[in-house]
Amino acid sequence: MAREQDSQMNIQWYPGHMTKTRRMIQAELKHMDAVCEILDARLPLSSRNPDVGELTAGKPRLIILNRTDLADAAATKQWAAWFRARGCAVLEVNAKAGQGVNRFAPAVRELLADKLLAYAEKGQTGRVIRVMILGIPNVGKSTFINQVAGRRIAKAEDRPGVTRGKQWVPVDRTLELLDTPGMLWPKFDDPQVGMRLAYTGAVRDEIIDTETLACHLMEYLGRRYPQALLERYKVEAEESDTGYTLLEKAGRKRGFVLRGGEIDTGRMAKILLDEFRAGRLGRFTLELPEDMEAEHG
Ligand code: G4P
Repeated sequence: MAREQDSQMNIQWYPGHMTKTRRMIQAELKHMDAVCEILDARLPLSSRNPDVGELTAGKPRLIILNRTDLADAAATKQWAAWFRARGCAVLEVNAKAGQGVNRFAPAVRELLADKLLAYAEKGQTGRVIRVMILGIPNVGKSTFINQVAGRRIAKAEDRPGVTRGKQWVPVDRTLELLDTPGMLWPKFDDPQVGMRLAYTGAVRDEIIDTETLACHLMEYLGRRYPQALLERYKVEAEESDTGYTLLEKAGRKRGFVLRGGEIDTGRMAKILLDEFRAGRLGRFTLELPEDMEAEHG
């Protein structure tokens, strides 16, 4: 089954479009002072295109942990520390509500303090700083850019065959953003990555069977956030429970019983995913730095 899911998830991986975006990034990079990667705070590494680090190596880097309103606050702190330890500047943001976005311009200037000082010493005080914005589709790039720029900017087009693939967005007199199309899909080689993206709705539902997905999510929640299952579904997660038995227990509590006494786990699966995505179960992070070390050594 894992292999089947894997190949289905690869439907999302568009090599042609990716190549175009990569070329554009490479060509523009020399004009950039810094790169800003927007990640989903609930799954920072799974929502990252792994090639981006290599592609933009050597550039000062600002990481935006977006959707902090949906993530586990303690886990967001852990991730922020993890990225800082790797030399990145980090901002915790809720782009939808505009929280944290006013720290963007000062954070960029702090990140580039040495360079700005060198410019100032040469008398070049008005030089424009250019920052490339990168992120996978639907991570919140447009929402973030609109907030930072203080107005609605048309989306850099994601569709193939559309020529306007990038655009400049002025933030103030000396700071400009380069918006890039969200073609930078993460890699789905690791089924866990595809699964976590699917929980959040970042990949289309038909990519993976809803019930299978809900079972995996239940298992994770039962292990890491049992209190949430107790509060929302009155389900007590026990050591012996699997994702499926937890789904059954929740379905039973909700009264989703089919003729013959069987639990309608399909219906419960859909409700779990809808409620999870709407933030009704609480705030969760789907991977922690320690998981990454356990998974990838
Ligand atoms: P993109 O350019 O990277 O493709 O992403 P975009 O800004 O279009 O954002 C995708 C969805 O994520 C939008 O929801 C947006 O509102 C939501 N979003 C962005 N940042 C945050 C955040 O920090 N917190 C939360 N909770 N949501 C965020 P949508 O349903 O597609 O549109 P809308 O109805 O919210 O406008």
